[in-house]
Amino acid sequence: MTLLRDEDLAAAFDHASRSYDALVAANPGYHAHLRRSVRRLGLAGHGEGLRVLDLGCGTGASTAALRSVLPAADITAVDASAGMLARAAVKPWADGVRFVHVPAEHLADADVDGPIDAVFAAYLFRNLTDPDAVLGTVRSVLRPGGRLAVHEYSLSGRRADRAVWTLVCRGIVRPAATLLGDGPLYRHLWHSVVRFDRADRFAARIREAGFERVRALPLPGWQTGITHTFVAARTQDAG
Ligand SMILES: C[S@@+](CC[C@H](N)C(=O)[O-])C[C@H]1O[C@@H](n2cnc3c(N)ncnc32)[C@H](O)[C@@H]1O
Repeated sequence: MTLLRDEDLAAAFDHASRSYDALVAANPGYHAHLRRSVRRLGLAGHGEGLRVLDLGCGTGASTAALRSVLPAADITAVDASAGMLARAAVKPWADGVRFVHVPAEHLADADVDGPIDAVFAAYLFRNLTDPDAVLGTVRSVLRPGGRLAVHEYSLSGRRADRAVWTLVCRGIVRPAATLLGDGPLYRHLWHSVVRFDRADRFAARIREAGFERVRALPLPGWQTGITHTFVAARTQDAG
């Protein structure tokens, strides 16, 4: 299968936006794991005075996790799918949250610029045509020392973890998604994870993009060995 990319992927998410929240609500730990990954950014207090970027915010599940852990932060949430963003925008948000329709590759076109204190990206990177270019963009908007947390399906390399991933997709996710008319997007989901970097490779990719203190941290439950939080800090040099 050819992976969905760019406009095709945004169109698939536009369609899936109707049922996205219901599907993730059925995934045990989805919201708690997002909050855990936000805490792993290691930001002080409640985010007072901090500017945070939620890349690929979708219907706002990751934005809600940021809001919950960092209620005082100023949050900009961006996504390439107008349909996903429309679902996010109608939810009740306190002040200090704004949604922007722009692909992660073109933040400057929508005046989303630095210096930003932290970037959070949940379930985005394996969908990108050029993850290195987006890591470069992330680095350029972060202040020196600014934090990055990538929450992503990135397999451990153990055969058992890949087998669990296949079982979950074939047995639960794909049948439900097919009924909802979103079969192609959720076939893309299985393939995009199997073809994406293993956790150690993605950690190396982040390091090569100009980040330090890079760690790949596991998440509990069935996601162990399948979903990781990658935390890192932008190197201190100005370039
Ligand atoms: C699996 S959803 C995750 C949404 C949300 N972060 C969450 O945790 O529920 C991935 C999102 O990334 C968005 N996306 C994919 N490629 C993108 C890109 N190049 N730029 C911005 N958003 C993108 C999709 O439109 C979709 O809303």
